[in-house]
Amino acid sequence: MMNTYSNIKIAYYSGTGGTELAAKSFQRHLETAGCTCTIETITDGISKNQSNCDPLILLFPVHAFNAPDAVYKWIDALDMVNQTSAAVISVSGAGDVCPNTACRVGSIKRLTKKGYHVLYERMIVMPSNWVAPAPSPLPYLLMQALPIVIDQITSDLLSGVCRKAKPLWIDRIFSAIGKLETAGGHYWGKRIQVMEHCTGCGWCANHCPAGNITMANVKPTFGDGCHFCLKCIYGCPSKALQPGTCKFVVIPEGYCLQDIAQQPPQNPQVPVKDLKVGFFWLGVKKYLMSLSDNQRDLSL
Ligand SMILES: Cc1cc2nc3c(=O)[nH]c(=O)nc-3n(C[C@H](O)[C@H](O)[C@H](O)COP(=O)(O)O)c2cc1C
Ligand code: SF4
Ligand code: SF4
Repeated sequence: MMNTYSNIKIAYYSGTGGTELAAKSFQRHLETAGCTCTIETITDGISKNQSNCDPLILLFPVHAFNAPDAVYKWIDALDMVNQTSAAVISVSGAGDVCPNTACRVGSIKRLTKKGYHVLYERMIVMPSNWVAPAPSPLPYLLMQALPIVIDQITSDLLSGVCRKAKPLWIDRIFSAIGKLETAGGHYWGKRIQVMEHCTGCGWCANHCPAGNITMANVKPTFGDGCHFCLKCIYGCPSKALQPGTCKFVVIPEGYCLQDIAQQPPQNPQVPVKDLKVGFFWLGVKKYLMSLSDNQRDLSL
């Protein structure tokens, strides 16, 4: 039996737009099923809307085997509740495999301390936005898979399915070490370089989720609070920003989900299970296979 909820809150953090697409897709699916939702963007610090909800659906991108620090701060600033149900959905580039499996542990612990009852957790996979893109045709297939997985999660939530993961112990260690990324991100962001051809349009300052960019003399300047989300680097309309350090984190060809979704690869028709993807992308293949088994064939 499907429940309908009249007071769902979807709260999400997103840097380069993948988690935002997932959150908005949730909103559409839930509203189509007759539910009423509010949606809140997490930037930093305090929740802008502390009104009661049931359930809370929290979404975030995986950053160094964790939630971004802004998400932890947001949870810490929530009011106490009495056993409000919650779902925690992480969005990663590599999937629910080592070293990612403990990425929701910190946020679930914090929500539990605040009185939430986390009944459901799951990983969504989107095209990776850092270090290296997944090999073709995985990014395109991931975009195709998004509505399928959102549809599955929506029907799980509305029919009361509980889903709890068992993180690997080694990933708890990775996750603890990954928390150092917050400090590393502050250092990295302060050193982002502005190139000569910056037009001073202000897009980066207007879209930085951390409010870390200010326009001084028509040029952006970067503060100490960077979330390491990469939005300004990929999103600058003039491609006028580059990292001053650790350049390898940025994909040189850029990152645009709309382009990925609109450009079907030229590969011959190969079912997902037969794709040769390399060790680092086995989690992505596993994810796509799990979805194509249940619903449609995700081969090209
Ligand atoms: C600083 C940083 C760290 C990341 N760490 C991981 C990681 O540990 N595991 C992973 O699978 N993906 C990682 N990613 C990739 C993102 O989780 C993935 O691309 C996600 O879809 C980005 O979501 P967004 O577009 O909403 O920001 C990382 C990305 C960034 C920018
Ligand atoms: S978005 Fe790009 S061009 Fe516009 S102000 Fe920022 S760096 Fe300059
Ligand atoms: S400065 Fe750039 S990378 Fe850092 S939080 Fe802002 S948009 Fe993201």
